[in-house]
Amino acid sequence: MKDDQQAKEFLRTINGETRRLTQLINNILDFSKIEAGRKEYRFVSSDVAEVVEVVLRTYEYQLREGGFDLSTRIDHGLPMVSIDPEAISQAVVNLLNNATKYSDDIKKIEVAVWARDTDIAIEVADHGIGIPRSDQQKIFEKFYRVSTALVHNTKGSGLGLALVMHIIEGHGGQVLVDSEPGRGSRFTILIPIVKTETAPKKAGVEIRGYPVEEGSHH
Ligand SMILES: Nc1ncnc2c1ncn2[C@@H]1O[C@H](COP(=O)(O)OP(=O)(O)OP(=O)(O)O)[C@@H](O)[C@H]1O
Ligand SMILES: [Mg+2]
Repeated sequence: MKDDQQAKEFLRTINGETRRLTQLINNILDFSKIEAGRKEYRFVSSDVAEVVEVVLRTYEYQLREGGFDLSTRIDHGLPMVSIDPEAISQAVVNLLNNATKYSDDIKKIEVAVWARDTDIAIEVADHGIGIPRSDQQKIFEKFYRVSTALVHNTKGSGLGLALVMHIIEGHGGQVLVDSEPGRGSRFTILIPIVKTETAPKKAGVEIRGYPVEEGSHH
């Protein structure tokens, strides 16, 4: 009986670590492509709600395993937008990953997709440790991690949000951050509904409604 339980425990660990490593490898591969200027986005007219739902379906098990309570508010009948579904999925996975990693006791995650003026918004919110104001821009730099004990006890390389930023920049969109230490974080991806003929407008990080130009990593 005990062996059985231990075997299950091992399997869970192996499963979790395999998933983490796969995600890490995906991030590193994409990141090196981006750095080499060889990351190409394959834009196809898509329903963002559908893309996010597929991500959630594949992520559900992981959330359940971790004891998370997921609530969703996904609008349907949204206008189609020109996106790279794989890249947007990876951005959402990274936000979900962070939401789970940096949730402390309150294991509640909210995901929403809706149309907001001229954009489709994808929101991932948690009730975790939050991010100090002074770090809210730096977290988008590669390898940057907030220097608190909880963050450093959590495995990570500081690539996730840098990748999210690049992907959204490639879509001419924006990433908004709203967070308070001890209260949780809300990340919102905005994807423009009408894709202009010209190059996508410069992406930026926006902190509580104020756009911030992208930092020095260019
Ligand atoms: N939802 C969140 N709540 C609290 N802090 C966060 C959240 N998301 C990101 N952070 C902070 O921002 C830092 C950078 O996030 P990022 O996703 O880029 O890297 P990581 O999670 O540390 O590692 P990786 O994503 O490469 O596995 C994190 O180390 C953490 O300090
Ligand atoms: Mg991360």
